Amino acid sequence: MAQLVPSIVLVVILTSRVTCCSEDRKTFIVQVHEEGKPSIFPTHRDWYRSSLSGISNAASVIHTYSTVFNGFSAKLSPSEANKLLSLSHVVALIPEHIRSLHTTRSPHFLGLTTPSPTALLLDTHFGSDLVLGLIDTGIWPERHSFHDRHLSPVPPKWKGLCVSSTGFPPTSCNRKLIGARFFSSGYEATNGNINLTTDFPSPRDSDGHGTHTASIAAGSYVSSASTLGYAKGIASGMAPKARLAVYKVCWNGGCYDSDILAAFDAAVSDGVDVVSLSVGGVVVPYHLDVIAIASFAAVSAGVFVSSSAGNGGPGGLTVTNVAPWLTTVGAGTIDRDFPADVKLGNGKIIPGVSIYGGPGLTPGRMYPLVYAGVGQFGGDGYSSSLCLEGSLDPKFVKGKIVVCDRGINSRAAKGEEVRKNGGVGMILANGVFDGEGLVADCHVLPATAVGATAGDEIRRYIGNSRSTATATIVFKGTRLGVRPAPVVASFSARGPNPESPEILKPDVIAPGLNILAAWPDHVGPSGVPSDGRRTEFNILSGTSMACPHVSGLAALLKAAHPDWSPAAIKSALMTTAYTVDNKGDPMLDESTGNVSLVFDFGAGHVHPVKAMNPGLVYDISTSDYVNFLCNSNYTPNSIHVITRKSANCSGAKKAGHSGNLNYPSMSAVFQQYGKKRMSTHFIRTVTNVGDPNSVYKVTIKPPARTVVTVKPDTLTFKRVGQKLNFLVRVQTREVKLSPGGSSVNSGSIVWTDSKHTVTSPLVVTMQQPLD
Ligand SMILES: *[C@@H]1O[C@H](CO)[C@@H](O)[C@H](O)[C@H]1NC(C)=O
Ligand SMILES: *[C@@H]1O[C@H](CO)[C@@H](O)[C@H](O)[C@H]1NC(C)=O
Ligand SMILES: *[C@@H]1O[C@H](CO)[C@@H](O)[C@H](O)[C@H]1NC(C)=O
Repeated sequence: MAQLVPSIVLVVILTSRVTCCSEDRKTFIVQVHEEGKPSIFPTHRDWYRSSLSGISNAASVIHTYSTVFNGFSAKLSPSEANKLLSLSHVVALIPEHIRSLHTTRSPHFLGLTTPSPTALLLDTHFGSDLVLGLIDTGIWPERHSFHDRHLSPVPPKWKGLCVSSTGFPPTSCNRKLIGARFFSSGYEATNGNINLTTDFPSPRDSDGHGTHTASIAAGSYVSSASTLGYAKGIASGMAPKARLAVYKVCWNGGCYDSDILAAFDAAVSDGVDVVSLSVGGVVVPYHLDVIAIASFAAVSAGVFVSSSAGNGGPGGLTVTNVAPWLTTVGAGTIDRDFPADVKLGNGKIIPGVSIYGGPGLTPGRMYPLVYAGVGQFGGDGYSSSLCLEGSLDPKFVKGKIVVCDRGINSRAAKGEEVRKNGGVGMILANGVFDGEGLVADCHVLPATAVGATAGDEIRRYIGNSRSTATATIVFKGTRLGVRPAPVVASFSARGPNPESPEILKPDVIAPGLNILAAWPDHVGPSGVPSDGRRTEFNILSGTSMACPHVSGLAALLKAAHPDWSPAAIKSALMTTAYTVDNKGDPMLDESTGNVSLVFDFGAGHVHPVKAMNPGLVYDISTSDYVNFLCNSNYTPNSIHVITRKSANCSGAKKAGHSGNLNYPSMSAVFQQYGKKRMSTHFIRTVTNVGDPNSVYKVTIKPPARTVVTVKPDTLTFKRVGQKLNFLVRVQTREVKLSPGGSSVNSGSIVWTDSKHTVTSPLVVTMQQPLD
């Protein structure tokens, strides 16, 4: 599923082509002054067309935008772009980026169904008045997860459309799926028409990703769900009665900014309450980032936006979708896995995972075991060690179990290459960069995945035993109650935040490994084109799967607290998140097996039931974000692009630094310029959303080598909605670091009354400038 690597390659190619050949056309998002339209133009589109025709007879308007953005998109040559930018009513031209999908018994694990639907779901009528907008690959509407039994009529506030087209009749929508649109002009402006062999020019999902994420967020109850016999049970989304509106923007070649912006524009104008975006790409400054710009307007309009952190982990600085108004979601494991052990000819048993569901290997029989990386295959050992398409020779593979290294092509495609050449099984082995993180796949032949250490051991065994190596794979089905869980998934993208280091990202983690959810009929569960199997459900992994869990929870929180802002919802999710696993130990990192840290999980793993009643929230208004941008040294022009208002930063600068955004976490970044002692402060305001009369006392857990004080140390509230301020002072001293090195320590600030625990992580990063 994960298209991340190929898409990044695509971005690089396009960028280099633009710089090489000056007249190549590229899509730009053009922002214009809202009030500038001369009255002779009946519509904005006419005005935009006319602006364009004045500078080029080749360029045409791709999309116009009017709700979250004022302007249009068009394909322009560099000289046309410059001419357009010189027009007085044009504010900015933003180059288009191409984004990719963030894929690689969750409600039970989150505590929503034990032992019966909890108060959270009952209190909120399961979120039935709330509309979740999914910006993704569309939907397969006939799935049981999207049935509308027991749902009340569509909420009257809804203004969206069910856009019908070939293969997507109006009856595709119902009281569950209340909106469906698709946006392809931006994609087609660069790639030509949609390929009708592989994709549908309609909201119908040809990929599976959008169907999967939509059912995670708001799938209806389906009894007896499973994939090929694995993960049997009742399936339901986080907000099983919330409504879905899908906005298809991702096509076979990726998701284009001009289409994503059109989808946000429609979603906010249609009246969605939550946008779920399991898509991302490069991190650029916010005024060049269409997702950041569009979500700023969405959040300002009261729409909660959750987005996936990306699958670039376990390395640092990999987190994406990092704007402070977004809720950025990383991925954790759940307490369920799918063991499939490797048994080697030397008697060694090596644990692996798989959701292979077809006929197995003959019990008790050992099969010859081969690996191309040890020179058994001849030829180019590199591509055959990875089992790339066309790299294996049936002479060497037939009747054998083949070890394939993870990387380059999809995990399931490796299995297809082995199967095609007569192999009977596959062991998918992590390399050192993948660490010990395992993803279970619906392979097309008996196959299992093993970690980097186990991979080395198996390769060594094959190397040592030459042609006598043997193995088999023993499938053990579904295992529940796995401990420890949650564990931060290896692939989950990590902080620090590359754009705003004083804003800790990701914000939270949620289930994202081996998640069961709905799947279209168009694609086999492995995603390999030749896979003819059809399943109602599929098991996928990625921060793409974690994000819609939080989107669904946000809908439930909004249903219970209609007056909460998106920032208040995020605060509730963050301050009640937990950082210990189901053994009571600090949460581990799947990639190393070591204890995970604050840049891995942010505030921690979401706890929906506690988030319902957080006691206090850290609220943020639109003007607070503007002050943050001012204090982050964004220019008035850049701020205008993001906020569509002229900014006056002189007041904001006086008020302090960007760390003073009223965020539910605190991150201090110190540059060590030979100063022995350094200090900073955070001003925070908490709003009482608990009992009218409540008294909170602070508990400080200072990061190592840091002195932290909080004033006042007691907050006495007299009424609900009351706001009180406090000041956190952080003092630290120089540490020994090599040039360019850094050290990170974390602690926490915790406010407690008799009922609530309101926790904020406090991170201190020391950086040694490069000499
Ligand atoms: C459409 O996709 C099919 C299958 O991948 C491919 O064979 C065909 O060449 C594509 N058509 C065009 C016009 O690109
Ligand atoms: C994980 O812990 C081991 C010791 O148990 C240590 O050697 C290793 O450096 C740690 N890895 C990371 C990435 O911290
Ligand atoms: C910006 O705000 C300050 C006060 O905060 C005011 O003195 C100044 O005139 C304003 N500047 C502009 C350009 O509006």
